[in-house]
Amino acid sequence: MSQGQFISNCAADTLSSAAESMKNGALVAFPTETVYGLGADASNEKAVARIYEVKGRPQDHPLILHIASMNDITYWAEDINDYAIALARAFWPGPMTLLLKRSDKAKDFITGNQEIVGLRIPAHSLALNLLAEFKKIGGNGIAAPSANRYGAVSPTTAQAVSAELAEYLQPEDQILDGGSSLVGVESTIIDCSKENPSILRPGAVTAEMVEQSTGIILLEAQEPIVRASGSNKQHYSPKARVLIGKDAQLGDGLIAMDGVLTPDGVNRLASPKNNEEYARILYSALRQGDDAGLGRIYIDPPEGLGLAVAIRDRITRASSS
Ligand code: TXA
Ligand code: MG
Repeated sequence: MSQGQFISNCAADTLSSAAESMKNGALVAFPTETVYGLGADASNEKAVARIYEVKGRPQDHPLILHIASMNDITYWAEDINDYAIALARAFWPGPMTLLLKRSDKAKDFITGNQEIVGLRIPAHSLALNLLAEFKKIGGNGIAAPSANRYGAVSPTTAQAVSAELAEYLQPEDQILDGGSSLVGVESTIIDCSKENPSILRPGAVTAEMVEQSTGIILLEAQEPIVRASGSNKQHYSPKARVLIGKDAQLGDGLIAMDGVLTPDGVNRLASPKNNEEYARILYSALRQGDDAGLGRIYIDPPEGLGLAVAIRDRITRASSS
């Protein structure tokens, strides 16, 4: 089976047929602004079970539910805090997932038996169009984790999804190609089920941005009160061993800001000029290192606040074993 066989370029009618096949239980991987997701009808238990099979992910890990518009929040969630509505208004569509008290529509097979559900409206035209087409035919939301095997690096291109998952897909499944994801790291996860919101996973919607545009102060989650697979220590790992720093040796890979010199004989995988570019290329640079068969990749993390916090979080996880 060739890896490319699942990839569709997106002509207008591709999305309605993708939505249709998802309604019939197929899996559809699709681009978002953060990373590619592996989507299934969030109301279809069998289809959602296939996500777990294809990812090789433990059954009790909850999935993020992608919705088409703010109107769909109350289908899946209830008793919504005012601050959660303010966050959604400020940052949706966008790289932010809100954990809310679930309604009876969000079943255990989505929430991993928890009383909260994760919701997000992605900021990607193809994802939004797919969600809209799905809604037209009676769909209420698309469950989609990142489209990688469990524990591996999230894919930021259709080709990376195919390389990760093609061997586990069925003929009716497909991968929609929307080019490279612009943000490159997974959404910020904010727990909105308590009196005060807290960040469970840092992302491109930063605590500083939230405070500036809404006045809401996000707490740091002391320890994950809820199970979030991205909060397992080892996650987002390539095959190569990841070491933090820039002292790469002969034959190693190196990811570091532009301006950091490449030692002789070192395979420079990326030289981003700022944090936005760093987040965007981090996962593809790790994949490139694996494709080149490198044994070790050194990563020199960016400093400071903002998006650098999310980048350091993913680098730390990739390096822990
Ligand atoms: O940017 C993203 O969030 C991407 C794109 C595809 O939207 N999705 C993504 O999904 O990163 P995933 O499943 O790889 O990571 C989502 C994280 C997981 O750690 C999951 O456990 C957590 O969100 N999560 C989702 N729903 C949850 C819930 N009800 N309670 C606790 N954690 C939840
Ligand atoms: Mg993931």
